[in-house]
Formats: sequence, C-alpha cells, structure tokens
Amino acid sequence: MTDRHLSIDYIEYGSVSEMEPKDQALVAAALEAQKGTYSPYSQFQVGAALLLEDGTVVKGANQENIAYPSGLCAERTAMFWASANHPGVAFDTLAVVGADHGVLCESPATPCGSCRQVMAEYQKKFKRPLKIILIGSKRLYKFSKVDDLLPFIFDSLKV
Ligand code: THU
Repeated sequence: MTDRHLSIDYIEYGSVSEMEPKDQALVAAALEAQKGTYSPYSQFQVGAALLLEDGTVVKGANQENIAYPSGLCAERTAMFWASANHPGVAFDTLAVVGADHGVLCESPATPCGSCRQVMAEYQKKFKRPLKIILIGSKRLYKFSKVDDLLPFIFDSLKV
C-alpha cells in the first residue's frame, strides 16, 4: 500500500487588473456573454467566453428548460458552438463567470463535472492544454490545464 498525494497549481488574482491584457479582455467577454443567459428557473446567470487559437472569441450562456435536464451550462454552450462553427480550430482559454439573481458571485462559480469532462475531450482532441479562468468579484482563478480541475481524467478506453 502506498499513500499518495496530489496537488494542483493555480493562480489567484485579487482583481482583474492584475491579469495580463489578453485575459482581461476574455473576462470582459465572459461578463458580456452573461447577457445571453436564459435562466428563469435558477436565476443563476452564467457567461462563458472561449478564446480560440486564431483569436476568435466565442460566447456562451446557460440555457434552461422547464424539463430541467434539457438545459445546458454556459461552458458547454460555448464549447459546442465553437466546435460546430469553427471545426478544427483549437481552444486556448475558457473564461467563466456566474451571478446569483444578477449579483456577481464573490468567489468564482466552478464548472460542473460534465463541463469539465467536455473540456477534457477538446483538450485531448486539440493536443494542447486548455486554460481556464474562473471569475468572481473578489477573486479570480486561472488554471493552466483541465487536468487541474479534473484529476484522473477519463480520456481513453485503453488503460
Ligand atoms: N451552470 C452553468 O452554466 N455553468 C456552471 O459552471 C454551473 C451551473 C448553470 C446551469 C443552470 O442553468 C444554472 O447554472 C444553475 O445550476
């Protein structure tokens, strides 16, 4: 038997002004993306902005449905739209922001497990790390790859 330990690295920012300009622009796009939310049931407004390797920024927002499981998170809305409309263009960075009843969360809203799994799929497909920025009003986090949000990724049928 062996006790093992896993640690992850990420950056915490106290404000968006501490980030590099490219990331600041993506944060602004994620905030803008929140306008596309359709969230009458949860009143939780999520915006996502996905920077592609060619500089394109794709926005997504959560879409809800009276049959709850039929809705979709902001992150997957953005990733699926990007993959469908810009096939073959790699994902570079995904920025996400959440607000509760219109008030920005102080700590970043963190992506659900299904969104993390979808991020992992595209990271593997494009053979390059997908960076993730999580935005809160009091702190922001940046992860350099999906593995740091989803340890022990399921990404192969051969283990
Ligand atoms: N939601 C997202 O869009 N992204 C997340 O990372 C977490 C949750 C949405 C789903 C649902 O519309 C609402 O937030 C409440 O769960």
